[in-house]
Amino acid sequence: MAEKYILVTGGAGFIGANFVLDWLGNESAAIVNLDKLTYAGNLGNLQSVRNDPRHLFVRGDICDPGLVTGLLERHRPSAIVHFAAESHVDRSIHGPEDFVQTNVVGTFRLLEAARAYFSKLSAAEREAFRFLHVSTDEVYGNLGPGDPAFSESSPYAPNSPYSASKAASDHLARAYFHTYGLPIVTTNCSNNYGPYQFPEKLIPVVILNALAVKRLPVYGDGKQVRDWLYVNDHCGAVRLALAKGKLGEVYNVGGSSEQTNITVVEQVCAILDELRPRPSGKHESLIEFVKDRPGHDRRYAIDASKITRELGWKRTESFDSGLRKTVTWYLDNTDWVAAVTSGAYRHWIDTNYAGR
Ligand SMILES: NC(=O)c1ccc[n+]([C@@H]2O[C@H](COP(=O)([O-])OP(=O)(O)OC[C@H]3O[C@@H](n4cnc5c(N)ncnc54)[C@H](O)[C@@H]3O)[C@@H](O)[C@H]2O)c1
Repeated sequence: MAEKYILVTGGAGFIGANFVLDWLGNESAAIVNLDKLTYAGNLGNLQSVRNDPRHLFVRGDICDPGLVTGLLERHRPSAIVHFAAESHVDRSIHGPEDFVQTNVVGTFRLLEAARAYFSKLSAAEREAFRFLHVSTDEVYGNLGPGDPAFSESSPYAPNSPYSASKAASDHLARAYFHTYGLPIVTTNCSNNYGPYQFPEKLIPVVILNALAVKRLPVYGDGKQVRDWLYVNDHCGAVRLALAKGKLGEVYNVGGSSEQTNITVVEQVCAILDELRPRPSGKHESLIEFVKDRPGHDRRYAIDASKITRELGWKRTESFDSGLRKTVTWYLDNTDWVAAVTSGAYRHWIDTNYAGR
């Protein structure tokens, strides 16, 4: 009997790789992992499953319809879990084009390939098939200090090229459900943190800079509020939404952990003071306030009561426990850190894929 597959896009990135590892540890279906290996994609994240026959890695672009169609026809997945994206807000401000290309055009091409594939499935296969679209709370825009948290019915008001491109992809996913009946479930989650996060995002930047005794840059006054979600809790939510989510529905996923950026930085410093004390002074003396990001949203907060009520999801990590696990992971995984910070993982990719 043919092995059962799901297709994961962006499975060499931060959340995608955590999802691949989580899936292989909990589920029986094999994974076809389609990832372009941009600067954010790192096969070092998947080192522990490199000999697992249930993990098939394919380097390629979701914008390539021939490649995606070929993978769908060859492996006949029962689901597509779509993580692939350009994901860094600052990069979207400096160069929005890649964001429109991958997040909007790429999602469109994937939906088109999925629609064609879905139309040829048997009735039983169509019944089982799911397209899970992974998105962000940033599509809802900016909250004031006393505003209620974002719910699934909050209006869209994206403010950065990144969030605008994700909003566009959410609308396409919604339209493919309503217009073509493609069985789509969408999740919108808050800021993830945890192992394998590329050191351009706040928490890994702070951990690695502090260890290197470099300044800890904090944008503006540091009072921007984000809700923090431990990446494994997010992976569990995606698996649950895939298994039990209602078609065409959106589920917000959050960690119920609103924190200002400055308190996040201070908490990382406090954990490092305990686990890796500096001979002279506290880590927080390295904090430096720098020019704010243009158009920086002040506050995001997620109301995750729908996924809790309807699907029974609950986070397992508090911010305290998740942050401690994360800092410990970076301290314990010096090879991964060295390969990422030196860029060695990129040379390896170039060598490995040269001429393929
Ligand atoms: N990180 C967060 O806190 C967060 C929060 C909310 C939502 N999200 C969403 O979750 C998803 C994953 O985020 P992440 O933080 O893991 O991102 P990431 O930047 O770490 O990883 C993205 C992955 O997608 C791959 N990729 C990029 N363009 C591609 C293309 N054209 N074709 C195939 N692969 C491509 C990259 O190589 C990389 O492996 C994204 O859709 C993002 O919008 C992330």
